[in-house]
Amino acid sequence: MTSDHWQAVALSKDIGRKPLRVMLDGTPIVLFRATDGLTALTDRCPHRLVELSKGRVIDGEIECPYHGWRFGGSGQCTAVPGHAGNLPKARVKTWQVCEKDGAVFIRHSPQSATPYTHCAAGQDVITRMVRSNTQSTVIDAAENILDATHTHFTHKGLLRGLSSKRVLVDVTVTGGDGWVEACYTGEDKQQGVVSRTLEGTRTKTIGRFRAPGIAELEYWGPDGLTLATTFHLRQASPDRVEGIGWLIGPNTGIGAQIKALAFKPMFKLALHQDRRVLSSASRNAALWPDAKPVLGPLDFLRNDIAAIMSGRLPDCAETPRIHQIQL
Ligand code: FES
Ligand SMILES: [Fe+2]
Repeated sequence: MTSDHWQAVALSKDIGRKPLRVMLDGTPIVLFRATDGLTALTDRCPHRLVELSKGRVIDGEIECPYHGWRFGGSGQCTAVPGHAGNLPKARVKTWQVCEKDGAVFIRHSPQSATPYTHCAAGQDVITRMVRSNTQSTVIDAAENILDATHTHFTHKGLLRGLSSKRVLVDVTVTGGDGWVEACYTGEDKQQGVVSRTLEGTRTKTIGRFRAPGIAELEYWGPDGLTLATTFHLRQASPDRVEGIGWLIGPNTGIGAQIKALAFKPMFKLALHQDRRVLSSASRNAALWPDAKPVLGPLDFLRNDIAAIMSGRLPDCAETPRIHQIQL
């Protein structure tokens, strides 16, 4: 087996400040310069299986581009941004690595009469429709839409400000037959371009999943709904998810029409950013069919979405959960 031997995989000068992905016997490996020297890790974040090589090297550690988990030269998880307690025991496999003569070497739903459309149906709202298409699964794509913690990384500047300032937020998770929702209160208005352009004061945010594959986000201000999206996702083929969605804003006159014009392109940019991490995770999932994603301490909805998708009542239907996070 070739992986028992030292294999030349890159030139030393290929590995500068950015991580580099190399393949060895079908296995992707990420090379980067850690605090204690050149490091080779299996190129797969244990959290959602995203390619670590799509992230960056910061303070001698590699940072995943999805939620920012960090891994040092030993492959151990050293940070879960936003989480204050014990770190998950997740680690990435390390490979032996050395440099010689300028080269790098490594070794090993009941149906209802009329379909549900969107969260503000029947109200005086302005809507724009969008289509999407991503290499992923419905559960991963739905979770992605409802996951507030990835916005700091995947959507920096767009949905979040450029600073990494966070605020303590309360999250209440409730659910019932065929639905689960997370309600966020205590947030600052987000500093990204979208919020600064389209939103006023924010009082609460709701992320909701409905059977069979509907993900919706609602942003509420003191006078009611300020912005919302409802996305219907379906598994078009084993590795492709297609979505039909509504972008929704209150009909408050001419200003609202202008905002609606701006919302769609910004939303499409966000979709593009999400597509990158989702397809990255999907590619790695195909390489490791048995790899089980780690449930992180901030993944509030994953198990409930999975329960609903398999026709079971989500756990939170019995006991609502309250979390506090730095968002
Ligand atoms: S931090 Fe890597 S996939 Fe979430
Ligand atoms: Fe996203």
